[in-house]
Amino acid sequence: MKFKAFNVDFKNPVILASGPWWYGEEYFGKIDFQKLGGITFKSLTKNERIGNPPPNILIEDFVVYNSVGLKNPGVEKFIKEIYPKFENMDTNLICSIAGHSEDEFLENLEKLNNLEKISLFELNLSCPNVEGGLFCYNKFSIKYIVENAKKITKKPIIVKFAPEGEILHFIEIALNSGSDIINLGNSPIGIKIDVENKKPYFHRVFCGYSGKAVKPLILKKVFETYKAFKCPIIGLGGIFDINDALEYIFAGAMFVSIGSAIYYDYKIPEKIVQDLENYLKKEGLESHLSLIGIATKSSSL
Ligand SMILES: Cc1cc2nc3c(=O)[nH]c(=O)nc-3n(C[C@H](O)[C@H](O)[C@H](O)COP(=O)(O)O)c2cc1C
Repeated sequence: MKFKAFNVDFKNPVILASGPWWYGEEYFGKIDFQKLGGITFKSLTKNERIGNPPPNILIEDFVVYNSVGLKNPGVEKFIKEIYPKFENMDTNLICSIAGHSEDEFLENLEKLNNLEKISLFELNLSCPNVEGGLFCYNKFSIKYIVENAKKITKKPIIVKFAPEGEILHFIEIALNSGSDIINLGNSPIGIKIDVENKKPYFHRVFCGYSGKAVKPLILKKVFETYKAFKCPIIGLGGIFDINDALEYIFAGAMFVSIGSAIYYDYKIPEKIVQDLENYLKKEGLESHLSLIGIATKSSSL
């Protein structure tokens, strides 16, 4: 199942998404991180952020609502206290970077770029839960951040997009500015009403939502992005089993990423790795690479 992309070796295409597993705390000894192709840390800002006031997360059958508000320890504390717990792990470590301004992204990247064992950087240009977090809808911000990020690091850059609206034009700018991989995508923005109290459930009123409910929306963006650009894509949104993962691969994803599913069963990422291996064996394939975009290429659109 192993493959190489951008000079990085991947055991498999299954990546743990930024956010739901935070920095591992509750999942050491539960998820075997080394069985996965990569793990993405929760997005980091320059300074520690305590996030939005609780409640922050609500888990229902098909939807996970979140209003975390970029809660994170800040870059310095990550470097000193969190990175050392992971640096000897045999998997790809992916640092997700956020910021309150275009320059903060670059400042954070400069510091994190000194960490030898980080294999890739993800620019979270699409945080739904902070004021001004949606840099991915501003062509000047995308160009400025990505072009300068490429000057700072030789490691591959992933740009993470929100899945709403006409985003192909913005993705094209990210690719032309040097983005190596496109992540589709972040949680769309929704709302939850607290029926008992007759008011919005979260303090910020609107919230990100994820889980099974977002799959058709994001899968369509993967399909359209692959059709337009044939670029490397991380498919992320509502992946709970091997069939979900295959749908994303067939639509055009080179990687499949798992977020909220771990709240229902933390073994899902490892199970998908195992099931993908069995599937490829059955199909007589050594890797999934020939399957990427197979449904999109054959579609009549
Ligand atoms: C509690 C929670 C926190 C999240 N925090 C981040 C984050 O810090 N950075 C980021 O890029 N995405 C974050 N996300 C979004 C996920 O990475 C993912 O894009 C989204 O949940 C869709 O995938 P899923 O349906 O598999 O969960 C968060 C999601 C949840 C549920």
